[in-house]
Amino acid sequence: MALYNEKVMDHFRDPRNVGVIADADGVGEGGNAVCGDIMKIYLKIEDGIVSDGKFETFGCGSAIASSSMATELIKGKPLSEALKLTNKAVTEALDGLPAHKLHCSVLAEEAIRAAVKDYYGRQGIAYDPKDFPDCGSCEGCHG
Ligand code: FES
Repeated sequence: MALYNEKVMDHFRDPRNVGVIADADGVGEGGNAVCGDIMKIYLKIEDGIVSDGKFETFGCGSAIASSSMATELIKGKPLSEALKLTNKAVTEALDGLPAHKLHCSVLAEEAIRAAVKDYYGRQGIAYDPKDFPDCGSCEGCHG
């Protein structure tokens, strides 16, 4: 039986939104200390909406597919919704990941949250620390 379903393979082979946004409004990273994989997310924000999102991922197929799907899910959405994107939602949108690969989707959740936090910091926008519960614990957290 194949390790990955068709949707995961599609987003792995033909990932959407790969790249860098040079003038990004927020940049965040997520990393996994065990496997060493790293995901970087770049966001453009206009009027509180994620107008563009791109990623660079040094990681496994699941991490690449998760980055691709996560950026697709948040583009055009209000920041408040992007902030609520969970790895569960990313996994569901991918029609599932193998159990031992679920942690790969966590990188997307972490990286997006870190990018939103970076945006708030750059703009001097006050935020509720409760929206960033695990900030400081992931590899690429900007603090
Ligand atoms: Fe590390 Fe997938 S094995 S993110």
